[in-house]
Amino acid sequence: MPALTVNGKSHSLDVPPDMPLLWALRDVIGLTGTKFGCGIAACGACTVHVDGQPTRSCVTPVSAVAGKKIVTIEALDQDPVGRKVQAAWREVDVVQCGYCQSGQIMSAAALLATQPRPSDADIDAAMAGNICRCGTYGRIRTAIKRAAEST
Ligand code: FES
Ligand code: FES
Repeated sequence: MPALTVNGKSHSLDVPPDMPLLWALRDVIGLTGTKFGCGIAACGACTVHVDGQPTRSCVTPVSAVAGKKIVTIEALDQDPVGRKVQAAWREVDVVQCGYCQSGQIMSAAALLATQPRPSDADIDAAMAGNICRCGTYGRIRTAIKRAAEST
């Protein structure tokens, strides 16, 4: 099994090639900030960045991401855009229970990395796959706009 590069570190894993990336991150590497929600790419809780793209790690086999650059919520503060998103999240006090929020933040950071001044429609399109059972959508939108204004 080729090595995975996660948060700048190489991990040589003895796992089946069809193991979901989420399992490898949480159960093998020990990075538990990325959450399991649905397991079928329908909630966004497991979102990580793969070569900068927001990716549902629950349905992504490790064999598909070998050699690619994987970033999880644990290392998002190493990226300037990620830091601004996390700061805006704190300022707006977005989080309620928190379960969905690492996925929300990873999707928001990927959006702002490619569209520094997103429109409401851009935000809707980028965030549509991230579900929040606590209904924090209004604060998420406010925080994304605040992060955009601070870039
Ligand atoms: S756990 Fe991956 S999208 Fe829900
Ligand atoms: S903050 Fe609770 S599910 Fe989103």
